[in-house]
Amino acid sequence: METKISEIADGMYRLSTYVPDIAPPAGFTFNQFLVLGDEPLMFHTGLRKMFPLNREALSRIIPPERLRWIAFGHFEADECGAMNEWLAVAPQATAAHGQTGVYVSLNDFADRAPRMLQDGEVIELGAGKRVRFIDTPHTPHGWDAGVMYEESTGTLLCGDLFTQLGNDRSLTDGDIVGPAAAAEDIFKYSALNPCMGATIRSLAGLAPRTMALMHGPSFTGDGAAALRALADDYDRRISAEWHDRLQRTAA
Ligand SMILES: [Fe+2]
Ligand SMILES: [Fe+2]
Repeated sequence: METKISEIADGMYRLSTYVPDIAPPAGFTFNQFLVLGDEPLMFHTGLRKMFPLNREALSRIIPPERLRWIAFGHFEADECGAMNEWLAVAPQATAAHGQTGVYVSLNDFADRAPRMLQDGEVIELGAGKRVRFIDTPHTPHGWDAGVMYEESTGTLLCGDLFTQLGNDRSLTDGDIVGPAAAAEDIFKYSALNPCMGATIRSLAGLAPRTMALMHGPSFTGDGAAALRALADDYDRRISAEWHDRLQRTAA
């Protein structure tokens, strides 16, 4: 395996590792994102067992010990499995996550005290970069789930939202909703909940110009339209599920 690097927006780098053995023949990508600044931030740590690959990749951009912030969407191995490895190589680094994630997991799991972010709180990275944490509980999964939005580039670090199979591009302006629906059909990875459509639709208000998918290519284009279409897809799934249940109850 190798980790490929691409710049998806000004000062925003995608570190992508393709694993052909997951969901063959298409395979599956695991992506971390580095946001440069006086205080560089990495979104997702990558799997613990991929740490050597990711550390080597990051060192092609900045010395890993320069990392200041380690953030991620929710507490899960691909999102934060290597958090303590990064904390060990970057002595100035602090893990940052939402209130639920810090109380439930990071206060215990992180080797150094984490920073707890309120919904909507911004970390100033310097050099014009600002990342805002937004709570998205249970969306697409995880009580502690959240996304980050880098304001200067209009980039939504959207974690597992829009997850798709394959590895054909690092950046696309094509359809990301159809491939995400196909992956949902296969993996059933989302915690379908009544608030899900509204939670995703609320992110459309940011009107992101770039969206950084954890599993899939990064997207450039009308992020609001893609988010609304994804929200509609989940609303349909949730309505269909309720409809089926009511019919079964009535039968
Ligand atoms: Fe996840
Ligand atoms: Fe993930």
